[in-house]
Order: sequence, then structure tokens, then C-alpha cells
Amino acid sequence: MTSDTWRIGVLFSRSGVTAATEIAMLNGTLLAIEEINAAGGVLGRPLEPLLRDPLSSPRLYRDMARQLLIEGRTRILFGCYMSSTRKAVLPEVEALRGLLFYPTLYEGFEYSDRCFYTGAAPNQNSLPLASYMMENFGSRFAFVGSNYVFPYESNRVMADLVTQAKGRVVDEVYLPLEDRPADIEKAIARIAKVKPDVVFSTLVGATIPRFYEAYAAAGFDTMTHPIASLTTSEVDLVAMPPSVSAGHIASATFFECLKTPAARRFVTAFKKRFGIHAPVTGCAEAAYNQIHLYAQALKLARTDEPEAIAAQMRGLEFDAPQGRIRVDPDNNHTELWSRVARVNNAGSFEIVWDAGVRVKPDPYFVAPSLDDWSLPGAPVASSTA
Ligand code: ACM
Repeated sequence: MTSDTWRIGVLFSRSGVTAATEIAMLNGTLLAIEEINAAGGVLGRPLEPLLRDPLSSPRLYRDMARQLLIEGRTRILFGCYMSSTRKAVLPEVEALRGLLFYPTLYEGFEYSDRCFYTGAAPNQNSLPLASYMMENFGSRFAFVGSNYVFPYESNRVMADLVTQAKGRVVDEVYLPLEDRPADIEKAIARIAKVKPDVVFSTLVGATIPRFYEAYAAAGFDTMTHPIASLTTSEVDLVAMPPSVSAGHIASATFFECLKTPAARRFVTAFKKRFGIHAPVTGCAEAAYNQIHLYAQALKLARTDEPEAIAAQMRGLEFDAPQGRIRVDPDNNHTELWSRVARVNNAGSFEIVWDAGVRVKPDPYFVAPSLDDWSLPGAPVASSTA
């Protein structure tokens, strides 16, 4: 590239069902870009984001990725939330020899040498969540999810973990991404009928607060029967009152409530830039981290040729807000810090379990075991809780 900026494509939706989640991710991306540019850019050239809004539509993700790649504006893309959008973009990235940086927790069972996965793989979030829930609430699970690939596959992983512990999956319900009130009513009625110990939610987007509201209205006690999730985040907590959210549980690698100096610095900078009420989520932090990783790789490669960047990415480390992370050269996923948090009476997450060590990604779930060393019961690391 001969221009005087390093152009990068940024694909996050600012409208559509997952807009709120993706705006937080876009904010994390922009914050990192602004930090890098304020420090002089990379090799004296600023990063120039080419922002696209694919409206939460996999087809638009694909078309916009293709347009960015084909017009030769850049071959380096950052973005996507729903796995359906990543799956729409990746064939274009592979065919046109680009690179995708994907910052979202996802279902695993995927590898592309043209993708870096900076969000959690199932052994980094599903496994600790399953362990925590079974240890504290019981092993009869009902699954509720949005109707697309991530919930199906994530539920398959969770079902493996539950049955391995001699638990049972007593129902599995999917809601349309554009749900109607009747869909939520039906799902709540089914859950009421089977009376699970745990509701595992893989709902995404605007459905989340609506479902949690309906769960509260139906009279479930969230102290004894909380909803456990990988996708419910700080974005959703600001959309519901504490009377609805208190007691519910989530697993992620970063939470806004983390108390380490690095986490506090990040949250302060984020809110200074985007407003005191702008939620900071695990996915927003991953989006921030991956820009910083890219800048390091770019500095080492001295070119934004995708192959040269990919070669530098493998094994790179970054002092992220969640703790020091490392790109695993074995699988292009990232070594991350596993945590479980619960919503307190003020409507904010509080850490209830922390692995206290960096967890190697196992995207193909080769060794998922409830006998894993990182089970709940390990001490909460006081430095991060
Ligand atoms: C997701 O679809 N990976 C949340």
C-alpha cells in the first residue's frame, strides 16, 4: 500500500437487532485507533478506519466486506458479532486473500488461517459457566436461544458438559431474531412447565432485555433460578431495571466491573470518550485489543500485506484490560482470562469466579472436561475480582 495512512475496514452494525452490542464494539475499536494515532500512528502513518454499517444483516456483511476487499481499499477487516455474519464474510476474505479480526465469543469448531479470533472459545466461557451453575444451582438445564448458528452450536457444547456431569437438558427453545411478544410468552411458558434449575440463554440483541423482563414478570426467583449466559452483557443491563437483572449470571473474559489498574484505565478512557453511560463489554474490550495487536503486527511486518501480518500475529502478546493476552500460534485464537459474574442489586455485574490464570483456547473442544483445573472452587484472584 502506498497511501499515507493504513486503511482498515470496520464492519459493525449501528442498526438492526444487535446494534447496541455492536456499537459498544465499534467504540472499543475507535478508542484503540485513536490511542494509536495520538501516539503517532504506526511507522509514522495513522490508521484510517473505513466504517461500514451492515445493519445486522449477514448478506450486507458479505457485500460490504467484498466491496472493501475488491475495490482494493484494504484487505484488513475488523468486525462481526453474530456468527452468521462471520460465516458470511469469511469466504470472501479467503477468496480475496484478506484477513478478518473477529472479536466475539463464539461456538468454536472453526479455523481459518485468514481469521484471528480474539473473543472466547467455548472452553474459555461455556466450561466455567457450566461448572459454576451446576455447582451452585443444579444440573437440570433449559436452553433458550436466538434462531441462528451460534445458539445451536453453543447449546450442543453446553449439552455435552451437562450430560457429562449426569445432568439433563429438559428443553431447548429458539426465538426468531426479530421476536414478537408471542414468541417470548411461548418460551417462558415452556420453561415454567419443565421447571429447570438453570436457564442457559444464548439470546442475542434486542431480545435479551425483553426476555429477562418477561422472566421476571412470570415470577421466577432469580436468586435461586438465575439465567446464565455468554451473550448477556453490560449493554443489556443498561436496558433493564435492577429489579429485572439482579441475580442473573454471565461468563466472559472481561467485565466493566474489573478492578485491576489496566481495567480501570480502559473503562475510564472509554467513558471519557463515549459518555459516562456507554456500556463497556467483553466484546468491546476484545475489539479494542485486536486493534492494538494489529498495530503491533503492522509495526513488525512494516507492510499491511495480510500474509505478513498473519505471520507476525501468531504468538503476539498484549497487556489488555482483562490481563496479558496472547495469540495462540497453534490455532489463531487467543489465550484469555475466564470469569463468571453475577448481577448485584444495583444492576451491575460483580465477579463471582475468576480462573486467575490465562486460559489457552481449545476451539475444537478436544479436551473439555469438568475435571479441568480451572473449575469453580479455584480461588477468586484478588487482583482482578
Ligand atoms: C455469536 O454469534 N458468536 C455471539
